[in-house]
Amino acid sequence: MTSLRLPGLIDPHVHLREPGATYKEDFDTGTAAALAGGFTCVLDMPNNQPPITDVATLQAKQAAACAKARCDYGLYLGAGVDNILTAAALADRVVGLKCYLDQTFGPLRLDTLEALVQHAERWPRERPLLVHAEGRSMAAAILVAQLTGARLHICHVSRAEEIDLIRRARDKGLTVTCEATPHHLFLTAADAATIGAGRSEVRPRLADARDRAALRAHLALIDCFATDHAPHTTAEKDSANPPPGFPGLETALPLYLELVREGLLTLDELLARTVYNPQRIFNLPEQPNTWIEVDTEAEWVVRGAELYTRARWSPFEGWRLRGRVLRVVLRGRLAYENGNVLAPPGSGRDVRAATDANSLTSGEECKDR
Ligand code: DOR
Ligand code: ZN
Ligand code: ZN
Repeated sequence: MTSLRLPGLIDPHVHLREPGATYKEDFDTGTAAALAGGFTCVLDMPNNQPPITDVATLQAKQAAACAKARCDYGLYLGAGVDNILTAAALADRVVGLKCYLDQTFGPLRLDTLEALVQHAERWPRERPLLVHAEGRSMAAAILVAQLTGARLHICHVSRAEEIDLIRRARDKGLTVTCEATPHHLFLTAADAATIGAGRSEVRPRLADARDRAALRAHLALIDCFATDHAPHTTAEKDSANPPPGFPGLETALPLYLELVREGLLTLDELLARTVYNPQRIFNLPEQPNTWIEVDTEAEWVVRGAELYTRARWSPFEGWRLRGRVLRVVLRGRLAYENGNVLAPPGSGRDVRAATDANSLTSGEECKDR
């Protein structure tokens, strides 16, 4: 057995579905899946029902997370056409502002260029402005960031033309950061034949082998790895109108380790993308006395039914993966060991709690909110 001790991983892009769709996932099951996958901190997206766009919706989500999360977390605010001033005023309580420039899942969408420019102008310079922006939308976002000085982070880069655009922006000295997902690094549209048509729906879509090769060839440009853990039920995925999204928290680490085994990056470069760059880009506090232990050689077969995510399926179903999380210690407490999640709901902390007197930190206090 090759046991390796690593810092707790950070996933900067998850959808834990609370509030509004807790039958798909909630802070309890989603953070259990995170711990099982070796993540001690997850950053949760705002495309909930209702979307997280103002103080009332943010407080409701903070209260749910505070009561139920088993690992640490940060929350994003969503950009709409009518919350430009409100969003900027809430910047200290969240880890970033998310702008959906393309149609994805749910109603949160920033339709007008004018609203994007206004958000980019108002949102504090030192905080990241995140975009779901594919193809030409990504080109628009890079230009708006350049013109306004906004700190742009591009979510889930998936295509050759997109990573090429980011390379060109970097060559010109622009400070744009970006992330890539395990599914875009390991799957292509051809895998829909085995995954199933509805289950393989995801945004950005699975691309072709050339796109996947371009991502793998340009890992040096990719600052973070992010699962975009987006659970939907198997009934929904197998229906006539399947929603886009994959669960990913419990399969990510062995896939990231595969990139190391393939010689595409070193272990230190993997930790940069899963710990240190996310800490820096999203202004996250260090997690003291926090680490994970991984058996890098242990092989296991992905079985959706055995996962902690409420979705209980995986696009990697049946894959033989190498690398298993043995133990997770979060702030000095054993949080996960040999398949068992030990951290109780409510033990996770909001990463903004220390800087925001309004954020709550313990399960008891959550009830007063
Ligand atoms: O596939 C996706 N699912 N892409 C997104 O951008 C949203 C996500 C979700 O929330 O289901
Ligand atoms: Zn997205
Ligand atoms: Zn997402």
